[in-house]
Amino acid sequence: MAKFPKGLSTIKGFLSSEEGESLYKISKLASNLGSILEIGSYCGKSTIYLALGCRKNGKVVFTIDHHRGSEEHQIGEFFHDPDLVSTQTGEVDSFLEFRKNIFDMGVENNIVPIVARSSIVASAWQTPLAMIFIDGGHSLETALDDYRNWSQFLMKDGFLAIHDVFEAPEAGGQAPRAIYDLAIASGLFSLFLEVASLRILKRL
Ligand SMILES: C[S@@+](CC[C@H](N)C(=O)[O-])C[C@H]1O[C@@H](n2cnc3c(N)ncnc32)[C@H](O)[C@@H]1O
Repeated sequence: MAKFPKGLSTIKGFLSSEEGESLYKISKLASNLGSILEIGSYCGKSTIYLALGCRKNGKVVFTIDHHRGSEEHQIGEFFHDPDLVSTQTGEVDSFLEFRKNIFDMGVENNIVPIVARSSIVASAWQTPLAMIFIDGGHSLETALDDYRNWSQFLMKDGFLAIHDVFEAPEAGGQAPRAIYDLAIASGLFSLFLEVASLRILKRL
């Protein structure tokens, strides 16, 4: 079993240790094949697991987040965290916490943060990807945009990971599930790994 840095499991975020370990394993595998990209860094928890996998091969993970939080992180919403409100702007801003965490975990040199809206980055992107982890906005519109904009860059035999795929609507929002279903229905992917709400698909 891999050894992870002390404190990683307590970083703010929405990923279980088992899900994190799976991201680590697949990123270790995929970073040998090509570039790795994450959508939705938040405070860096998943990014750090991906970066630790990349580090094994001397590679980097590109991670996209505007750091202004998703709908559910805004003031008054269910997943709002008052610690992430900027004293300068009075608005949610997870970037400082993200930078602190990637430094503390010793993976700053294995991460390329892109602070922007994912659709804007996709419109300028050209590099084929060996792994894409989608964990950005969870509205249907944003999740569909991320799936459509980014899956075209996935190489054959590459991995598409999607977080928060819940079978039952009572367990959580259904947008990640909708893009998971779309990917399977396309016939272009097969299910490779399933851990809690994380699904990892392989591009056929
Ligand atoms: C569920 S959190 C990511 C959690 C993270 N993967 C973890 O392990 O803790 C979703 C993140 O996506 C970002 N986000 C939402 N919509 C976005 C968009 N259209 N472009 C870029 N980032 C976005 C939010 O700012 C938020 O930090």
